[in-house]
Amino acid sequence: MSAVATRKSDAGLQAPRVRTALPGPGSAKLLARQNERESNARTYPRRLTIAPRRGVGSYIEDVDGNIFIDFLTGAGVLALGHSHPEVIEAVQRQLPLLTHGLDFPTEIKDEFISAQLSMLPAEMQTRTKIAFCGPTGANAIEAALKLCKIATGRSEIVAFQGSFHGSTHAAMAVSSLVSQREGVANTMPGVQFFPYPYALRCSLGAGEDSGMRCLEYLERTLRDPLGGISLPAAVILEVVQGEGGVIPAPTDFLLGVRRVTRELDIPLIVDEVQCGCGRSGTWFAFEQHGIIPDVIVASKALGGIGMPIALVLYDKRLDVWKPGAHIGTFRGNQLAFAGGVAAVAIIKRDRILDNVRELGEYALATLEEFAREHAMIAEARGSGLMLGIELVDPATGEPDSAAAIAVQRAALERGLIIELGGRHDAVLRLLPPLNVTRRTLDQALEILQDALAEVARSSS
Ligand SMILES: Cc1ncc(COP(=O)(O)O)c(C=O)c1O
Repeated sequence: MSAVATRKSDAGLQAPRVRTALPGPGSAKLLARQNERESNARTYPRRLTIAPRRGVGSYIEDVDGNIFIDFLTGAGVLALGHSHPEVIEAVQRQLPLLTHGLDFPTEIKDEFISAQLSMLPAEMQTRTKIAFCGPTGANAIEAALKLCKIATGRSEIVAFQGSFHGSTHAAMAVSSLVSQREGVANTMPGVQFFPYPYALRCSLGAGEDSGMRCLEYLERTLRDPLGGISLPAAVILEVVQGEGGVIPAPTDFLLGVRRVTRELDIPLIVDEVQCGCGRSGTWFAFEQHGIIPDVIVASKALGGIGMPIALVLYDKRLDVWKPGAHIGTFRGNQLAFAGGVAAVAIIKRDRILDNVRELGEYALATLEEFAREHAMIAEARGSGLMLGIELVDPATGEPDSAAAIAVQRAALERGLIIELGGRHDAVLRLLPPLNVTRRTLDQALEILQDALAEVARSSS
């Protein structure tokens, strides 16, 4: 990795330092006010009990002066860490010019489109169209589903167990998280969930070959005149399931899904909201598997420093929807375009994807070592810098959410922020900035190792 990128990632805050009980007094006050005034639907601060004041590179400081390594990075948004100075500068340059542009063409938007197209595989660059959506991943998922329904005239959608695509009605309907749908009547009908490859607990049976079994089941059902479902408008999948517990789909499964969907003329939507924009080690995760999707959904890291933006990139042949088919007031955030242009330039210049691959492999190997040391770790897995370890009760092999919560807490108290996900929240998830340094990564892995050891000791 270049010295330039190293310096930028860690500038300012250099090491974790927790000097109060958590939450510290300042954070406790803000958390209490939040509790009184904000919705019960809030999530992260319930377990990560801090009130952040500033973030620099891979580090975040709370209002009490505690410093944490931030491997949550705004749920995967902050690909270049917090406050990357060159991205900030680019956004500041745009600020006095134009901030909000609806869907008018502007110079910075044009640059943004060129930057995004330049990151696609060569064969996609000239046949891709871009829809700018409302600025969330869920909104772009809604748009992608509408696009495919309109283009095919069909109504059903095939989605996968373990998936997460967002919290609006249709996005939630194609997401597998049952609890979120509880009490919400009439989400989008016509969604069929199929098993997704998962060596530990695929619903067609565990094992490394679960990908082929999932593929066979999907293909048989779609081709069977008595299979029970009509030809769908789309198949939607995450190449690496994120919220579902960091589960990368194997290549044979993805190649097979692409073959079947092409043979049956079903548009394939890949949701790259979380695993895209470099997180997996290539710009989009699907590139590693030799497939070309019909539709890509991207968001999170696109805006460089967390500027909100979401896109649907799709094959021109699907572009038959009418003007106004998917509108929204916030489709033209010029600051997000400026941030996104700067981020792509930095990622290319500093060879950030090399860093993701190199440090991703190193981190995964270290997590695999932890798995050999601790019976409570059933599996370490990941792709690039999207990493997870699944904790189980060693006696039963069942997901151990209490242990995961305890490790997350012990890590926080030592200065490392990590997220939970997967079945019963038993997967510890690491989403470091893509320009994280080996030094920061080592600090984080050391903390994680201590946290695991503490929880293992207390449960033995
Ligand atoms: C894969 C995936 N798709 C879609 C979404 C929804 O994005 P948003 O929260 O911006 O609506 C998420 C959010 O975590 C995600 O991980």
